[in-house]
Amino acid sequence: MRSKLEWRPARVIQIETPAEDVRAVTFAVEGLRSAFDPGSHTNIKVVIRGEPAIRTYTVLPSAPGTSTIAVKLHPNSRGGSAFIWGMAVGDETEMTEPENRFELSWRASRYLLIAGGIGITPIYGMAKALVGRGQSVRLIYGAKSRAQMAFADELGELLGDGLEAYIQDEGRTFDLATEFAALPADGEAYICGPHGLLEAARNAWRKSGRSMSRLRFEVFGDSGRFAEQPFSVTIPQYGRTFEVRADQTMLDALTEAGIDMVYDCRRGECGLCAVNIVDASAPLDHRDVFFSPEERHEGEKMCACVSRAVGGNVTIDTGYRLEARRV
Ligand code: FES
Repeated sequence: MRSKLEWRPARVIQIETPAEDVRAVTFAVEGLRSAFDPGSHTNIKVVIRGEPAIRTYTVLPSAPGTSTIAVKLHPNSRGGSAFIWGMAVGDETEMTEPENRFELSWRASRYLLIAGGIGITPIYGMAKALVGRGQSVRLIYGAKSRAQMAFADELGELLGDGLEAYIQDEGRTFDLATEFAALPADGEAYICGPHGLLEAARNAWRKSGRSMSRLRFEVFGDSGRFAEQPFSVTIPQYGRTFEVRADQTMLDALTEAGIDMVYDCRRGECGLCAVNIVDASAPLDHRDVFFSPEERHEGEKMCACVSRAVGGNVTIDTGYRLEARRV
């Protein structure tokens, strides 16, 4: 299980709308250290359907003692974005000190940044930090429409010709293989966007023969192939079946029921929460970026923090957690 989170009181002090359906909320956070690295994220306590929950968001560059998050109101939201959108100036919650699993290496001679939609949130901070240190940066920013491009004006001023915008509604696309081929041998790519973009990037990077350590990525959690549906999870070693609501992850449902689970990122990246699949009565919607497409196709494991069954039931074996306490 992840180390205990240290929570700090946080109060909303500013709300802005940097793009259609995107709300940037700034919190004054007690005891926050003054600076954090680009790509960092924070955990925030939210309430979903009257139940306490934790959601994770990237933190944007902001003044000392504050944390700013930008949240897209998504129709398939499990409830976190709806909670943030319902907040007003003066509202209070708790947040954690930002931590970083999407760090810039600072070792490359050129950086390619790629953002899809609200995936711009960590990439925006990276672009500012890289330009601030005089690094060579190119940013490819894709969105459905211009109205949905948060921070596009600021990035245009920052990067000039280094910003390449691709608007889906205008029919423009970009070729990942061409972009990767233009990087020098010690160039690096940092990508945040929907699942499909990350999969395509991983495949293109692998085919280019470059070191996988020079491709870094982060996924956002609401990018499955199917809309969320309730489903059930049976764990034979406990002799029990658990219900997972549409607005809940399997990991949340099991931990709330008292099952000891191992996890860390809660974003489908680290693989720590993976469980063995024994049987499934419905298709599985794998939303992680930890397993390869081949591993997902084999259907032996799934990441409980993001992946789901599309209705029906999935029977799992929590494996090494056999000795977990009985519930
Ligand atoms: S907790 Fe990291 S992949 Fe699920």
